[in-house]
Amino acid sequence: MYDKMYGACLQGIDGTIVDVEVDISNGLPHFQIVGLPDSSVKESTERVRSALKNSGAAFPMERITINLAPADVRKEGASFDLAIAVGILCASGQLQLPGLDRCLTIGELSLDGRLRPVRGVLSMVDAAKRRGMTNVLLPSANVEEATLIEGMRIAGIDSITQLLARKDNPLFDGIPVSRGLQNERMPSNVEDVDTEDFVDVCGQFQAKRALTIAAAGLHNLIFIGPPGSGKTMLIRRLPSILPVLSDDESLEVTKIYSAAGLIPDRSKLIRRRPFRNPHHTVSMGGLVGAGSYPKPGEVSLAHRGVLFLDELPEFPRSVLEVLRQPIEDRRVTIGRAKAVITFPTHFMLAASMNPCPCGYWGFPTLTASCTCTPMKVRQYRSKISGPLLDRIDLHVEVPRIDFDSMKQTSGNAASRDLRQSVLQALNRQSARYAGTPIRFNGELNGRMLREHCRLPPEGEKLLSESFEALGLSVRAHDRILKIARTIADLDDSDGIGTSHLAEALQYRCLDRSL
Ligand SMILES: Nc1ncnc2c1ncn2[C@@H]1O[C@H](COP(=O)(O)OP(=O)(O)O)[C@@H](O)[C@H]1O
Ligand SMILES: [Mg+2]
Repeated sequence: MYDKMYGACLQGIDGTIVDVEVDISNGLPHFQIVGLPDSSVKESTERVRSALKNSGAAFPMERITINLAPADVRKEGASFDLAIAVGILCASGQLQLPGLDRCLTIGELSLDGRLRPVRGVLSMVDAAKRRGMTNVLLPSANVEEATLIEGMRIAGIDSITQLLARKDNPLFDGIPVSRGLQNERMPSNVEDVDTEDFVDVCGQFQAKRALTIAAAGLHNLIFIGPPGSGKTMLIRRLPSILPVLSDDESLEVTKIYSAAGLIPDRSKLIRRRPFRNPHHTVSMGGLVGAGSYPKPGEVSLAHRGVLFLDELPEFPRSVLEVLRQPIEDRRVTIGRAKAVITFPTHFMLAASMNPCPCGYWGFPTLTASCTCTPMKVRQYRSKISGPLLDRIDLHVEVPRIDFDSMKQTSGNAASRDLRQSVLQALNRQSARYAGTPIRFNGELNGRMLREHCRLPPEGEKLLSESFEALGLSVRAHDRILKIARTIADLDDSDGIGTSHLAEALQYRCLDRSL
């Protein structure tokens, strides 16, 4: 007796449909799974055996062979349990449910036959849709997440007993087709912000301006300044001015969190840009993704959002060096014995650092000044290598504010106002890049960069002079142009003017001092 079901597994953050073939033939009782299963899949035999027995079904005392195809895809996780169990029930004639053929079946079983939710459902259901399937059977706890994919009929069950009780009632009758994203009210913006507001930050106009530019064009940024100047405080307020995710971005981000098993609310797509703030003791694996079947690391969890590395020089140099590929290629490829996996890593890097180990180099106060030797200062700074710094668009000095500005609380720009200008600049970018894969100025490259960042003649002259005077690299040159483009967008200007370029040049202070 033979039956075939469809299961799914994750490869990176994408789902892959796996055929689950069940064959029951005469012979000594034996239960085995073939087709490159991982040990977690092999353990399925024990769970399925107990679950069926404890649900009142008969476990066939014959030779049962499960084949997972295609055989060249490594299968991992407990998500095949349900497909295997239902396959056995069908092949042994204990279950006949119309609608089970061409149905994606996923779910982990507990020994008593109840179903546990699995991670990565969003990607798996999406894969089923792309294969032309319309029916999905999964644990009730995963239903809401699955309905985020449009055009599917999704049946949720709690246990095998519940499935057996349906006898031969059609499983999918009366289940409406999911409406996907239309179900959701797309927020025009994050008005319901619960994050901290820029209104609490006194003074620091240049730092706020730099954060506005960074948010508008999704540019990488680094703050440098003495301890207590408010660097951490400022960057923590960045989420309050970021634009919400577009529909496509939202789906991408939610898939990553689903694959990592970190979805905050299963019934909703993630709409706000992620803000990740790993501590400097983070391991290389934690940062880029780890495991024999790698799960997304911090750089992927920050996809389409912000990766905040506070006190950058405190991170081990080796950890900082691995950031270069994700920043440049916007994805990270992790090779393991069992799988090679690529995760998207399109984030905006926000970092902070002190100017030297004691923190006062270049920013002396009346009572404290730098006690570090030039050698120590150089050592400290060399941790952040030139190539990494080159990839950061905005370098901004954040001095400590004086007493008067601290007392002056009126006139502090609020997040609401800053966000307004960010959105205005975003609208300009959307119009300009319509029909291209690009959304933000920070993504401009090569030909598109030259096309969209033309300078007036005086601008060219200013740039060439600064290029020589500051000893800028080619990469820094491109970054200055991108920043100038965003500044012009914030100014609601079609072309880049000399004043925009002049402001952009201010944000390369570390090129000079390092
Ligand atoms: N511009 C400012 N406006 C209001 N409070 C500030 C400002 N700068 C610093 N502070 C206060 O100082 C504290 C320390 O700031 P923090 O962001 O931790 O500094 P840093 O990260 O630069 O060492 C903040 O929590 C805040 O209370
Ligand atoms: Mg700090």
